[in-house]
Amino acid sequence: MLLDWISLFLRWFHVIAGVAWIGASFYFIWLDNNLRTPPDWKKQKGIKGDLWAVHGGGFYEIAKYEYGPEAMPEKLHWFKWEAYTTWISGFLLLSLVYYHGASIYLIDNAVMELTPTEAIIRGLGLIFGGLFVYEAACRSPLSKYPQIFGIAFLIMLMAASYLATHWFSGRGAFMHVGALVGTIMAGNVFFKIMPAQRLMVDAVANKKQVDPSWGLGAKLRSVHNNYLTLPLLFIMISNHYPMTYQHPNAWLVLMAIGVVSAWIRHYFNLKHIGISRPSILITGAIGMVLIAGWVSRPITPDPDLVSTQPPVPAIALNEQQQQVFDVMQTHCANCHSAKPTDEIFVVAPLGLMFDTWQQIQQRAAVIHRRAVITKDMPMMNKTAMTDADRQVIADWFDVTSKQ
Ligand code: HEC
Repeated sequence: MLLDWISLFLRWFHVIAGVAWIGASFYFIWLDNNLRTPPDWKKQKGIKGDLWAVHGGGFYEIAKYEYGPEAMPEKLHWFKWEAYTTWISGFLLLSLVYYHGASIYLIDNAVMELTPTEAIIRGLGLIFGGLFVYEAACRSPLSKYPQIFGIAFLIMLMAASYLATHWFSGRGAFMHVGALVGTIMAGNVFFKIMPAQRLMVDAVANKKQVDPSWGLGAKLRSVHNNYLTLPLLFIMISNHYPMTYQHPNAWLVLMAIGVVSAWIRHYFNLKHIGISRPSILITGAIGMVLIAGWVSRPITPDPDLVSTQPPVPAIALNEQQQQVFDVMQTHCANCHSAKPTDEIFVVAPLGLMFDTWQQIQQRAAVIHRRAVITKDMPMMNKTAMTDADRQVIADWFDVTSKQ
């Protein structure tokens, strides 16, 4: 259970840090877009943006300086650890769930047969290779054309999700695209936004002119981060919705939902600067309904695929293994199958399938955990599994785990 507790702690921490990061990011975007021209006496002090707010029983007066304050304040708040701790905890969580548990969560032999090491190398390659491509593009002349850059960036993310869904399990693929996006976002803070801020702070401390161009490069990165927030959050919760990541064109589902959610973010960005465009919300909602309709459309199974993957185990089983296989066909495969018969779970929950002996053997530890130790599977004991059935799995696990 130790790993479960570590996983719980990391996930909890990751969510808290992520809330702080995205929350601060939303707040500052809102703040920046809502600044108004200050009265003259403030302008003379070098203030270019003025904002008043009331919150938690008090009035707040916020001033944004054109260049910087005359003297360095005693205490200056930075916002970087929200991003760094979110990334670090996310990376540890990814390593624990998808790399330590690669054969259970990352590898799907029906997609591509990989050893854990191969899968982990591809996973890390995707995340850090993607970061490298993005950073190179940001430093190239492409960055002078934000719209073209935006399109190139979208194509790059499409390529990443296409590759991920053709290498990994559905969940593993989505989570890797999410990890890439999160790494790019944290990288934007680390590689560009923070260095620009350090230059500005140094200039103020040494009473030198602040060069406004320092902030401009950082601006492009922060626009990217702004539009990536909603797609990123979708990916982080997508694990609960197998209909998205189990779809035969999962990479397109991911891209479509990502684009629609970035479009919705655009509505809020415009709203902050006083432009109301409800048409964005309406087209966004229509887009989501169309995606839902497309994704839920019944899929006629590919006859070639079905015939090459017989549901019967291809290898000879001993008596005990056969017993386990039978128990699991009766009590688990109604939901956990390529073709579930359960009326509610029409797609295998979490993409977990027990149609073949290989699939069962590969996941022996989690099966044992959920069917014997925590006993929360079958879900609500819908298939009326008895203690004797659970004992069959327990005995087999004792033997397998000793081998
Ligand atoms: C009625 C449908 C249903 C049946 C039957 C069922 N499950 Fe599940 N199973 C689910 C759902 C839904 C989830 C996802 C929610 C969760 O993790 O609690 C799940 C999740 C799991 C997980 C967690 C996978 C992960 O990656 O964390 C395991 C392991 C599992 N089931 C094993 C089993 C076993 C073993 C059986 C048979 C003894 C079984 N299930 C029967 C619906 C079912």
